[in-house]
Parts: sequence; C-alpha cells; structure tokens
Amino acid sequence: MTTELFLRYLHFISIFAIVGSLVSEHMLLQKQLTRSAIAKIARVDAVYGLAAITLLSAGLTLWLGEFGKPAVFYTKNWIFHTKLTLFVLIGLLSIYPTIFFIKNSKGNPDEIVTIPKSVFMMIRLELLLLFIIPMLAGLMSRGVGFFGN
Ligand code: HEM
Repeated sequence: MTTELFLRYLHFISIFAIVGSLVSEHMLLQKQLTRSAIAKIARVDAVYGLAAITLLSAGLTLWLGEFGKPAVFYTKNWIFHTKLTLFVLIGLLSIYPTIFFIKNSKGNPDEIVTIPKSVFMMIRLELLLLFIIPMLAGLMSRGVGFFGN
C-alpha cells in the first residue's frame, strides 16, 4: 500500500513537472531568440526529460510490479495501450526540439537565432496529446476498455 501510494505520488508529481516545463518552454519560445535564451529553454527541456523518465519508471512499476491491481488489468486494456501510444508519440515529437535547443545553445550567447515553425508546432502538438492522456488514465483505471475475462 505504501509503495503503491509512493508510486502514484511520483507519477503525479512527474506529470506536474512535465506540464509545467512544457508550458514554460512554449511561453519562452519566440520567433527569434538569442543563444543564451535558447540555453535557458534547453535547461527547462532537461527538467522535462527527467520528469518523463520518472513518470515512465513509476508507470511501468505500477503496471508490472503489481503493487495495486494485477498487471493483466492494464495489459488487457486497449485504452491503457492508447495512453502508452500517446506517451511514446509525445516522446518522439520532443526529439527534434530537444536536439535543436541543445545545438543552438552553443556559441556566441548574444547571437540571434531564428526558431523554425516546426519547433513551435511540435511543442503545441505535444501539449495537445498530453491533455488527452489524463482522460484515458481515468477511464482505464476504472476498467473501461478491459478486454480480458
Ligand atoms: C504523460 C503521460 C501520462 C499521464 C498524463 C498519466 C496520467 C495518469 C493519471 C492521471 C493516472 C491516475 C488515474 C486514476 O487514478 O484515475 C494514472 C495512473 C496510472 N498510470 Fe499514467 N500517465 C502517463 C503515463 C503513463 C505511462 C507511460 C505508464 C506506464 C508505462 C502509466 C501507467 C499508469 C498506471 C499503471 C496507473 C494506475 C492506474 C490505476 O489507478 O489503476 N502512465 N496515469
């Protein structure tokens, strides 16, 4: 029970950190930024990456560690798999912005860099997918989408 509670807590605070960092990145982004401003976004992006790792670890342990419900409760639930697919999609979408921020944070800190439209679009798409997941989580945690016996 205590372990389950701790894992759920970790799962939730990771979600807060993910939403917080992604919204901050979006707010800090502008069409043109200095390399030092991009370096700041890269640091926020690192928090985002760390939070994604703790979220995934807590989620996987809740699923396969059987601290609460049996693993099959989730394994045989298509809504749970949809939730995982969206999480993977968000991860894939974040690759390009992350590489862009790291690459462009180096060099003369006062130099102006034009931010490609695709970076804005990918962050917006990540936010959109992120806001769908809690609804899927709420449904699957109540057994909606279960296809086992
Ligand atoms: C951005 C990604 C994610 C978000 C926003 C999210 C959100 C949530 C929320 C809101 C709950 C609580 C559901 C409830 O009690 O009503 C939850 C539970 C859970 N999540 Fe996630 N989650 C994410 C990623 C993951 C991943 C990647 C995994 C597994 C690898 C996972 C596994 C679980 C499990 C096993 C539970 C427990 C469900 C239950 O109460 O039976 N989650 N998640």
